[in-house]
Amino acid sequence: MKNVYADMTTESAPIGIFDSGYGGLTVFKEIVKTLPQYNYIYLGDNARVPYGNRSFETVYRYTLECVQKLFDMGCRLVVLACNTASAKALRSIQQNDLPHIPGLHRVLGVIRPTAEVVGQYTQTGNVGILATPGTVASESYVIEIEKFFPEVKVTQEACPMWVPLVENNEYNSPGADYFVKKNLRALLQKAPDTDAIILACTHYPLLIEKIRQFLPPHIAVISQGELVAESLKDYLTRHPEIEVLCSKGGEFKFYTTESASNFCTQAAIFLGYEVEAGHLDI
Ligand code: DGL
Repeated sequence: MKNVYADMTTESAPIGIFDSGYGGLTVFKEIVKTLPQYNYIYLGDNARVPYGNRSFETVYRYTLECVQKLFDMGCRLVVLACNTASAKALRSIQQNDLPHIPGLHRVLGVIRPTAEVVGQYTQTGNVGILATPGTVASESYVIEIEKFFPEVKVTQEACPMWVPLVENNEYNSPGADYFVKKNLRALLQKAPDTDAIILACTHYPLLIEKIRQFLPPHIAVISQGELVAESLKDYLTRHPEIEVLCSKGGEFKFYTTESASNFCTQAAIFLGYEVEAGHLDI
C-alpha cells in the first residue's frame, strides 16, 4: 500500500475513519488489511480526547463536526472507529443529520458489528464489556447484544483511566498494571462465570498483552478491529450504491486536530509503520 500525501481530487471519495484519538488506528489497521484497494482518510480528534467521560451532547457535537469535516474532504462513507461516538452520536447523526446532507452519505459504527458475533465466543453465556464510562452508561452493548443473543448475560466495567494511559504512552507502565488489574478484578467479582471479554474501546487493544497477563487463560479477549473490517467488507458487498462511490488506489492520509508531529510518533506505535499527518482545525 502506498502512503500518498498529495491532495485528492474532490471527485474521489476516500473512506473516512474517525476516532477521538489514536484508538481508531487499531480498527484502521485491520480495515486496510482486509480492504486494501480503497483510499482512506483517518481523522483523530486528539485535541479533544478523551470523549469517554464527556456528556452525550458534547460527544454528539464533536463527532458530528468531525464527520462533517470528513464529508467536506470528499468522504461519502465514514466509519466511527470509536465506541463512545458510536454509542452516543451514531444514531442521532444517522437519523437527524444525514437526511439533511445533500448527496448519498453514510456513517457506520463499531458496536453493532461486535454485538452481532459475541455469542460465538462464549460457552458460559457470560460476556464482559470493558469500555469508557460513556459507552457503559449508554448501555448500547447491553441493548445490542440482547437483540442478537437474548440468552447472553452482559456485565460491564467502565475503565476511565485506560484511554489516558494509552494516549499518554503509559500503557506498559506500572500505572497501567494497577488500573488494568483493578478493573479486571471488579468485572470478575461482578460476574465470575465470564469467559469472553470484549475490548469495547478501540484504544484497549494496546493493553491486550497486559489484560491477558492478568486474566485466567480460559477467558477469551476479543478486540474489534477484525470484526469491524469483516463487517465493512460485507456492508460494501450489500451496498453497491455506496461501494461504487468509494475511490480505489490504496492511498491513505492522516489528520489530527492536535500536533501533526506528535500524531506521527504515536501512530507509528499503533500501526507499526511510519506515516505522515496533517493538522486540521475543527
Ligand atoms: N477509542 C474510543 C472508544 O472506542 C476512546 C474514547 C475516548 O476518547 O475516551 O470508545
